[in-house]
Amino acid sequence: MEAVADVYALPQEFADLRETIRQIATERVAPRAAAIDEQAEYPHDLRALFAEHDLFGLAFDSDYGGTGTGTLMLNIAIEEIARACASSALMLMVQELGTLPIRLFGSDEQKQRLLPRCASGEWSPAFALSEPEAGSDAGGTRTSAVRDGDDWVINGTKNWITNLGIADFYILFARTDPDARRAHGISAFIVESDRPGFSVGKLEHKLGIRGSPTGSPIFEDVRVPADNLVGELHQGFKVALATLDHSRLGVAAQAVGISQGATDYAATYATERQQFGRPISSFQGIAFKLADMETRTAAARELLYKGCAKVDRGDADMGKYSAMAKLFCSDTAMAVTVEAVQVLGGYGYVKEYPVERMMRDAKITQIYEGTNEIQRLVIARTLG
Ligand code: CAA
Repeated sequence: MEAVADVYALPQEFADLRETIRQIATERVAPRAAAIDEQAEYPHDLRALFAEHDLFGLAFDSDYGGTGTGTLMLNIAIEEIARACASSALMLMVQELGTLPIRLFGSDEQKQRLLPRCASGEWSPAFALSEPEAGSDAGGTRTSAVRDGDDWVINGTKNWITNLGIADFYILFARTDPDARRAHGISAFIVESDRPGFSVGKLEHKLGIRGSPTGSPIFEDVRVPADNLVGELHQGFKVALATLDHSRLGVAAQAVGISQGATDYAATYATERQQFGRPISSFQGIAFKLADMETRTAAARELLYKGCAKVDRGDADMGKYSAMAKLFCSDTAMAVTVEAVQVLGGYGYVKEYPVERMMRDAKITQIYEGTNEIQRLVIARTLG
């Protein structure tokens, strides 16, 4: 029997890959992070770099051109990239979020058609669920899909969609049975971005994750063939929620990465910054802050890894753990980055230093892929 300590440790192969990704993040991603944020620039160069190092393949099985290394390794990669730049980590996250509906519910033909090109990084997807009037209440979807011969005709506008204008295809959720009760009568479709009637609507100006375009795709009489239906007709809400059960771990990983990045920066700063003739790290008021930041981040990571292991094993309570990890890690990221700004004092508040960006980036992790209030609802429903 393997020693318990070995079972609990990361496999060596994962630890080695983490080292490689950490080096990429430190040497290539971190130096770009401030400019990506300042210019709200989608980092095409880093996308090419990630593709070169097969990082997009981490979200996919080897049958479809991926690394086949599973959810834990993907989220370790997201964490390492987010430590340097949360916007860049989002490129890995959306590659998983926007393809999970196909991986979990798609036909063989859809998998063959789309997954290898996403695994290589050539194509990128988007997950189009939210609408202006259907945010937390995703079952209130109003976008419609009406059958016309062999096609479906789609009309509606989505909101808050990551990768808007970048995505090669959208996994779109639309109402296919107007008479069905709320969450029922919704279906999932693949809508390629070159279909007539699709357009890129309003792009948002955001507080954080500014290197990732977010906005409202518009669908006006967009025709897709019946082959583009993902999963069963009228069962799209379950496709969406099952996807989020997996992908919320990506948000948790992004949050842990932001927390660790902020903690590391603040700790180094505190040993260099002198006040009253001593490094500020020698004052208990600062040292205890740093100790709490490191401890909270480590605890958040444990819950994240546990959730990842549950998804990789297919445990029945994976959705609960995914929600708990997303909730705890994002609240940790927010608290830790606020403290990092405090450790740097006035320097923490200006753009010459990275912690104000980390604080702005942390905020979205409490909001997207389901607000933390929705995570609490999902968790509470599993109790008693
Ligand atoms: N997996 C599969 N099916 C599920 C499920 C799950 N995890 N959870 C619920 N369902 C099923 C239920 O069994 C039920 O089916 P039946 O009626 O056939 O039994 C159906 O789905 C409806 O479930 P509920 O009655 O629980 O639905 P609800 O209306 O009460 O809503 C909710 C549940 C948890 C609040 C849900 O609406 C939700 O998660 N909302 C948040 C939406 C969200 O996370 N949006 C994020 C968008 S993506 C994003 O942010 C990314 C980006 O690009 C920015």
